[in-house]
Amino acid sequence: MKGIILAGGTGSRLFPLTKVTNKHLLPVYNKPMIYYPLETLKEAGIDNILIVSGKGHAGHFLELLGDGRKLGVHLSYAVQEEPGGIAQALGLAEDFSDNEKVVVILGDNILEDDISKAVQDFEKQEKGAKIFLKEVDNPQSFGVAEIDGDRIVSIIEKPKKPKSNLAVVGVYMYDDGVFKVIKSLKPSTRGELEVTDVNSYYVKEGIMTFEILKGWWGDGGESFDSLLRASNLVAGWINNK
Ligand code: DAU
Repeated sequence: MKGIILAGGTGSRLFPLTKVTNKHLLPVYNKPMIYYPLETLKEAGIDNILIVSGKGHAGHFLELLGDGRKLGVHLSYAVQEEPGGIAQALGLAEDFSDNEKVVVILGDNILEDDISKAVQDFEKQEKGAKIFLKEVDNPQSFGVAEIDGDRIVSIIEKPKKPKSNLAVVGVYMYDDGVFKVIKSLKPSTRGELEVTDVNSYYVKEGIMTFEILKGWWGDGGESFDSLLRASNLVAGWINNK
């Protein structure tokens, strides 16, 4: 399976921190943010990874991470010319994926859990997709899943009246059909190709599975407070080891 880290977008919610640098290069406690999704993939045995970055900062990622050898991974790079949404950024990985299944992580998502077991389960899953859910206090800020037993009924992006407090974590596993799904998408009202529309396709087809994350999860890019929270979570974790 191949790994993809999405690190495009404008980071406008973190201005002026992101005025001259990319959100995913900002510090989260003792490392640049992008190190965390990289380590999550590596820990799950995925070492062939594509980083999709925005236009202005691609060189900075290359300077920081190089070909990945020092981190024990093999890195490739792609550039998203305009921030057309998470699904559009993922669409740029079609050639890289080479018809393999993929694990996609948003570059601002930081997870305590080791996802190896879920990745192995998805290797065995005949087709479809798999996502992670986590209970949160502010579901309005995320994609929100409604579940019935072990089945996802629906996923709504940033609902005003969430049907549950189960946020969709920014880690997605897809079969090789995902690129066809992306090509069929229409831009949302905010003009983006939405990852929630990709996930909703798999839900409708009845081939979406999920896991609930056990450990903490931080979306470092949502707000100044979420960035601070991510640093504090990592610091607490490292210092208590
Ligand atoms: O963190 C989990 C949430 O991430 C999910 O619950 C939501 O369903 C999902 O839509 C997403 O919501 P966000 O509002 O956090 O997405 P954001 O626009 O902040 O983008 C998250 C990452 O995706 C960002 O760090 C880089 C990447 N991205 C985003 C856009 C819009 C790209 O690479 N290109 C893009 O055009």
